[in-house]
Formats: sequence, structure tokens, C-alpha cells
Amino acid sequence: MTKRMAVVLAAGKGTRMKSDLYKVMHPVNGLPMVEHVLRAVEQSDVTDIVTIVGHGADTVKDALGDRSQYALQEEQLGTGHAVQQAENVLANEEGNTLVICGDTPLLTAETLTALFKHHEESGAKGTILSAEIANPFGYGRVIREADNSVSHIVEEKDATDEERKVTEINSGTYVFDNKALFEMLNKVGNDNAQGEYYLPDVIGLLKEAGEVVSAFVMADSDEGLGVNDRVGLSEATKIMTRRINEGHMRNGVTFFNADATYIEADVEIGSDTVIESGVSLKGKTIIGKNCQIGMNSELIETEIADNVCVTQSVLEHSTVAANTDIGPFAHVRPNSTIGERVHLGNFVEVKNSTVGNDTKAGHLAYIGDADLGENVNVGCGAIFVNYDGKKKHRSTIGNDSFIGSNSNIVSPVTVGDRAFIAAGSTIVNDIAEEELAISRPEQKNIANYWNKLQGK
Ligand code: UD1
Ligand code: MG
Repeated sequence: MTKRMAVVLAAGKGTRMKSDLYKVMHPVNGLPMVEHVLRAVEQSDVTDIVTIVGHGADTVKDALGDRSQYALQEEQLGTGHAVQQAENVLANEEGNTLVICGDTPLLTAETLTALFKHHEESGAKGTILSAEIANPFGYGRVIREADNSVSHIVEEKDATDEERKVTEINSGTYVFDNKALFEMLNKVGNDNAQGEYYLPDVIGLLKEAGEVVSAFVMADSDEGLGVNDRVGLSEATKIMTRRINEGHMRNGVTFFNADATYIEADVEIGSDTVIESGVSLKGKTIIGKNCQIGMNSELIETEIADNVCVTQSVLEHSTVAANTDIGPFAHVRPNSTIGERVHLGNFVEVKNSTVGNDTKAGHLAYIGDADLGENVNVGCGAIFVNYDGKKKHRSTIGNDSFIGSNSNIVSPVTVGDRAFIAAGSTIVNDIAEEELAISRPEQKNIANYWNKLQGK
């Protein structure tokens, strides 16, 4: 097979985003746009990838790591100038080079592979990945000859009124014969409306030199979306969300309202799980089979085993074992490990804690920096007092223990197995196994109080 290489353009600042974050680093469904692009490229049998960096070079390099080589474009003089920066790395190679923009996150590996194939089979020196779209405003237009063969590309700002009516757009993705690409780039000028060296001019120059140029029209024009501002970013997120959700549906996941469910690219969901409306699943969240994720729940980087029910709750950077139910309105904060058949009910907050199998905290509790054994009963209003104003402290509760309602456990405290804490106690000392700790003023009843108040 002819060698396949790729150049990813990621040096622009993205002025139209009006952001401190470099354009290609803006996330779409949890991944920077350029990460989506790189993944599609990696799956297209490409051997050498060169990413052109400039604005935010270190940020982009940190994000992509050693999966790509890099070339620095110190000044952003246009997309043609950007590709030229890869000359030192690629110019002597035989083969075909894909050039793709870092701001087209919806392009799939299938489309890139089909583009390569079309180019390889047509014998063209340059092939544009184009799309037919209803509103082509802002894109470069593919101009064809009377015989329908491709002539050149004209940018929106340089186009005549007649050319602006063309609805076939340049997606900013191309495959070129590698040697022809770098030869022609040296001939590209910057005499245009933006004073930039345009990569698309290579197509026109190849044609003028008598070479064959071609366009491959993508099947689904949504893939061609180039994100230049927040409107485009929102549109890309909408399309990506639909694509991700449909993927889960095909894998056996039920959605109550897919349009109102936001799932990021790396989330995994088991079959027969039901996702209700308004759910957000972020980062590398993994959900098992047969779970119910109730409306408006948010799960961030959280791993959930099978048969778990989450009702209107927030879970972050934690794990939950099988057959547990959480919520409504529980908050599992980072670094928590929740066991099997656990119940965390209304307004229960857990942070940096382990909760053993069969333990129940039904209502209004704060479990922070604690290790709870199995089958512990955490009463309503129990609080782990983990912070003394300066430092955090940890407590341990043994198996089968009972924490009475409205107790304060002033950490650090160790409570043995089968111990009891009487309701309303403030616990500052350790409790041995099978002991009852009671720490509250003794109740005093004053007789005839009503009459005293009446002055009788
Ligand atoms: C570009 C194309 C246009 C196409 C559109 C598709 C040109 C001149 N125009 O326009 O025909 O329809 O993409 O989305 O190519 N970049 C650099 N260095 C630079 C300039 C840009 O690395 O000097 C990078 C940007 O980071 C970005 C990509 O190239 O990832 C495209 O640049 P952008 O400014 O978005 O070009 P468009 O105006 O969208
Ligand atoms: Mg663009």
C-alpha cells in the first residue's frame, strides 16, 4: 500500500472563539477538538503524523504527547504556510499526505479512509474532501469547470457573488501526493483578501500545471463542520452528542430523552442500562449493565458496577459496586469507594471514604475521610467531623456497628465491630467492639413547668 502520512493544522489562535483557550483545545464532548481529529487520523492507516503548532504549542503537545511529531509555525501566515513547516520532516517521502484542520472534530476515520482510497484510485495529485451544505457561508467553495472537473477553491472573502452561491464547500481536509504538495506550496502567494498563504491554492496550482485534481464529496455533510466560533462549537457538540448517544443505543442502552442527555466521548455503558432525561456523564465514566441513572444525575470519572440505581445525584471520581442504590440528592465526592448493596439516601454526602458492603446511610449524613465496614447503620444527621480548622483526620467504623442519629464523630476515632453510638452523642474517644458509647447530657425533667410559666 502507498505510504500514508498526515499533517494536522493546529497553530491558529482562533480569534473568533474570543477565548483564552487556544481554539483546537476547546473540548467537544470532553475531548479537545484536536484529539478527536488525531484519533480519526490514527485509525486511517497513517504512519507519520506531524502536527503544526504555534499558539499554545506546549498545551497542544502536552495533550497529544508522542503520538505525533511536531513542527512549529512561529507566525500564523496561513494554512499553506502552516503545512510548509512540515517540509523538513516529510518533503522527501514518497506517498500520500492527508492534511486536516484541528478544528473539524466530527470527521470520522471511515470518511478519511474513504478519502484516501478515492485519491489512491483516481490517480489525482490532490483530492479535496468536500461537502454539500445548505448554508455554505464562511467556507471555501469548490469551483468546478463546465465539465464538472475540479478547478480550484475560492475563499468566502475572495469569492464573487456568483461563487458564493456554490454550496459545495472545502472541509479543509485533503489528500495530496506528498512531493507535489511541497513543490506547489513554494508557489503559493498571499495576494488575497486576508494576505495569507492559502493551502487550498495548491489545488488550483496543480490544476494549472496540468495535474489531475479531484473532490470526494462526504456522505454526511455534518462531518465537515469547521468550528470557528462558539456557535460552531455548540453545533459540533450537538451533532457529536447525537452520534455518541446513538452508539450507546445500538449497544443496548435505553434513553428517555437522548436530546437532553450529555455523554462524553470516552464513557462506557453496559446493556439494559436506562439513562433518564438531563443526565450528564463525563470523563472516563464507566457504567455497568442494568443500571438506572435517574434524571439530572451527573457522573464524573466514576465507575459503577451492574444493577446500580442512581437517583438525581452527583458522583465524582469514585467507584460504586453492584446492587447499590444512591439518592435522591446524594453527593459522592472524589476518592470514594462504595461497596455492594449499599444505600446512600437523601442528602447524604460522602468524600474520600470507603463504605463497606450492605452499609446504609439513609438520610442527611456527612461521611468524610472515613472507612466504614460492612453492614454499618449510619443514622440520620450523623456527621464525621473531619476538619479541625487546620488538618483533616480519618476515622474507622467496624463491621455491624450502629451510629445513632445526630451523632458527631470527631476524627480521628476508631470504632470496633458491633459497637453502638447512642443518638446525639459527640464521640471524641475510640470505642471498642461491642461497646455502647453514649455522650450527651443526662435528661432532666422539671415538674409543673407549665404552672411556673403562668406564675401560679
Ligand atoms: C479553512 C479553509 C477553507 C475551509 C475551512 C474548513 C483556508 C485558507 N481556508 O478556512 O477553505 O472551507 O477551513 O473548515 O485554508 N492554522 C494554522 N496556521 C495558520 C492558519 C491556520 O495552523 O497560519 C490552522 C488553525 O489552527 C485551524 C486550521 O488551520 O485548525 C484552519 O484555520 P482556520 O483559520 O479555521 O481556517 P478557516 O477560515 O476555517
Ligand atoms: Mg476553521
